[in-house]
Amino acid sequence: MAQEAQRIPVAMGHIEGVPLLGSTCDAWDSIYNFQARGDDILIATFPKSGTTWMQEIVDLILQEGDAQKGRRAPTYIKVPFIDLVPPKPRPIGVELAQTMKSPRVLKTHLPINLLPPSFWEKNVKAVYVARNAKDCMVSYYYFHKMNKMLPPPGTWENYFSAFLSGDVPWGSWFDHVIGWGKAMDKHQILFIFYEDMIEDPMREIRKVMKFLGKDLSDEVLENIKYHTSFQAMKENPMTNNSTISNAVMDQTISPFIRKGTVGDWKTHFSVAQNIIFDEEYKKKMEGSGLNFRTEL
Ligand code: A3P
Repeated sequence: MAQEAQRIPVAMGHIEGVPLLGSTCDAWDSIYNFQARGDDILIATFPKSGTTWMQEIVDLILQEGDAQKGRRAPTYIKVPFIDLVPPKPRPIGVELAQTMKSPRVLKTHLPINLLPPSFWEKNVKAVYVARNAKDCMVSYYYFHKMNKMLPPPGTWENYFSAFLSGDVPWGSWFDHVIGWGKAMDKHQILFIFYEDMIEDPMREIRKVMKFLGKDLSDEVLENIKYHTSFQAMKENPMTNNSTISNAVMDQTISPFIRKGTVGDWKTHFSVAQNIIFDEEYKKKMEGSGLNFRTEL
């Protein structure tokens, strides 16, 4: 509580009923009217689904496995987050993207119905990473604790209910994964599961490479796997967000690259919460065609 009491309140807003950070809502016109380019690569996720991991994988594929080039700048500079207006001195996502040469790699957490239309007008390729909701919830809870750009999470019990009802920044996990999953019929979207990446990173890195139309040797792919491993990214100052001030992300509360496992929810969910969650999950996900694994 003491840590939470010191925090400056974070304003929230809504766009078409989806809870978003107030700063994102204030900049909504420039975000929604963002001009994509045909050779952009979009990485889309619900928060805490392995976005940073995929950002690094895609960047290293484009850099043909050259880890030195990968370290040219922090992830959040190499891959602008178009729906974020971060505290200074970090540049605003859409503005940073506009200054970049093609091919750009861009990040979004927006649900499909709020994505700037120019992405589909330009037929942009998107990699969507999805992570099972239980682990996502736990990861997001710790992220709320350490990231002062987000409202404090309150107690775990409160956060559990908020997440389940979609009352967290970027809204409902269910709507997000279902919306992006359905969009695969119409658009160039590669749907990747975080759990599959944990299970067999080489297999998933290869999928991404093929989707991006690249052909890299096994040796290069091994190198990409090595440099994007949990441990390597945890130690790399360009990927672990240690370049962001403690006043914004306090990694003494919880590290940004935290655990990187499947099944951490088991040490957080009570038996009763698990029953409530499973009932809700069944109702919401029936017929979605998406099969998430909550353990490996
Ligand atoms: P945990 O909090 O469960 O550890 P995002 O980048 O979307 O914010 O996702 C963050 C989650 O991905 C965190 O999960 C983080 O530890 C995990 N992560 C980051 N890099 C990873 C990697 N190289 N391998 C596995 N998990 C990784």
